[in-house]
Amino acid sequence: MNLSKLASHSAVLCGLLGALASAPAHALDIKLPQETSQLKASTLAGYQSANAWCVMCHSLDYVNTQPPMPAAFWHAEVAKMVKVYGAPIPEDQVKLISEYLGKTYGNDQK
Ligand code: HEC
Repeated sequence: MNLSKLASHSAVLCGLLGALASAPAHALDIKLPQETSQLKASTLAGYQSANAWCVMCHSLDYVNTQPPMPAAFWHAEVAKMVKVYGAPIPEDQVKLISEYLGKTYGNDQK
């Protein structure tokens, strides 16, 4: 490749990069659907806590549509949300939510 070709290629490249850099950043207007799923009511403290923390990333349908599972599954599920998916739920609340889900949704506790 001769020098003038190289220069013209770089000019094209610079033009492209310039166009990308100057493209305006559009604010995305995303409307999420209204949450219609509700957790099974309970007087356990973890019920309130789950309503506060477990709605951050996805619908509560993720809880309600699980097949019948033992309490241990629910404890592991909450731990997974924190350790694998990075849910910023404080340790004491993790305990309360696990207890609530284990007792309310666990099929081995009734
Ligand atoms: C930081 C974001 C985040 C928070 C907060 C969160 N989750 Fe999740 N959750 C996820 C992701 C990501 C998935 C996997 C989604 C997928 O596979 O489509 C998931 C999936 C699930 C599932 C489906 C089964 C599975 O393991 O994939 C259940 C049940 C669930 N979450 C329960 C909960 C509960 C209960 C809480 C509150 C303690 C919670 N989540 C809080 C991110 C979160």
